[in-house]
Amino acid sequence: MTWITIEDLHRQARRQLPAMVYDFMAGGAQDERTLQANADAFRHWRFLPRRLVDLRNVNTTTPVLGAGAAFPAVIAPTGLNSLLWPDGDLALAKAAQHCGIPFTLSTASSLPLEDIAAQAGGRLWFQLYVIERTLARSLVERAKTAGYECLVVTVDVVVNGKRERDMRNHFALPVRLRPRTLWDGINHPGWSWRYMRHRKPVLGNFNTPEAQTATARAALLSRSMDAGFDWSALDAIRQQWPHKMLVKGVLHPDDILRCKAMGINGVVLSNHGGRQLDDACTGLETLARLPAMPGFEVLIDGGIRRGSDIAKAVALGASAVMLGRATLYGLASAGEHGVRRALDILHSEYKDALTQLGCPDTAQLNRNYLQPASIPLPFPSCQDTP
Ligand SMILES: Cc1cc2nc3c(=O)[nH]c(=O)nc-3n(C[C@H](O)[C@H](O)[C@H](O)COP(=O)(O)O)c2cc1C
Repeated sequence: MTWITIEDLHRQARRQLPAMVYDFMAGGAQDERTLQANADAFRHWRFLPRRLVDLRNVNTTTPVLGAGAAFPAVIAPTGLNSLLWPDGDLALAKAAQHCGIPFTLSTASSLPLEDIAAQAGGRLWFQLYVIERTLARSLVERAKTAGYECLVVTVDVVVNGKRERDMRNHFALPVRLRPRTLWDGINHPGWSWRYMRHRKPVLGNFNTPEAQTATARAALLSRSMDAGFDWSALDAIRQQWPHKMLVKGVLHPDDILRCKAMGINGVVLSNHGGRQLDDACTGLETLARLPAMPGFEVLIDGGIRRGSDIAKAVALGASAVMLGRATLYGLASAGEHGVRRALDILHSEYKDALTQLGCPDTAQLNRNYLQPASIPLPFPSCQDTP
């Protein structure tokens, strides 16, 4: 099987997964307009390439949060990865290490964070959901002890988005066996075989005494977050965590500036891949309106399926992008091998975009290489020409 594009991996994942699992991975909230808008946002920008530049050594590497990455990308946190492939978290982490980019483990990972730290090398980040404060404090302590490099606090899931595909499918963990689920399983024998032979997906980080308290269990079962989590609670986490910290899920410039003022190292402009508030704006739209913020890293995610999407995000000022479904499609298609393939596709497309743009180095990529797709005003440099 030759996978040439992320869309090839998407089609393969769709063929391989039972509909219920595919919908969980690929679906968004309500009418899925934000899910669609994430992809569309990239089409609103076109490249303005430069010519006659020495392009014998195009450099895709770049610093992300102070350390090198092979290209400006990070694997985004995603929960329940083992539903897609056995030990999916580990497969993603190992592929990220192999391809030279950081991996972010979700709070809702199937394997405990300590297992990933012990078994996967490379740059490991931990994503925190604040479901309950005591639980959150204990997760932060555990991530610190396990040696995670960066804490990514997700702030856009006060309540779970209304994911109507999941509601129609009666999606729940553990997977409930209904006639339709069984039929789906029979039609996807490869997935069913792997599912039966391996450990069943669980929330691997919650096998602790703190998670057994009545409030924690209620919060976990309803997948509802701490609705009182506010700036002062975020500040308490900043005080507890001595390393790099990002806030994921902000979109308003005032929130971004407040994070910066609070000593947070950067933000991930994100609408959670269109899975939370439908009609929320996209990370790329906010990015395009932000001024440069030296010393503060701005990452974005949502809809990245091409290396050229990464180039557009970097040209607009992002230090890197986060990859959600692009690498999940690889995982669902062929485990670690599929994730490596997804990363190789994106890396080589990104390098190709730089080369064709006439930009020899990620460090030189900026807004001058882009223009809006709508016909823009005359070039400032041409206005005085008689
Ligand atoms: C199946 C799935 C599970 C996700 N789980 C989490 C999670 O546990 N924590 C989190 O912060 N974001 C989660 N996200 C959101 C991603 O981190 C990311 O913001 C989003 O996928 C980016 O959009 P994209 O999938 O179009 O690349 C999840 C996304 C998907 C598709």
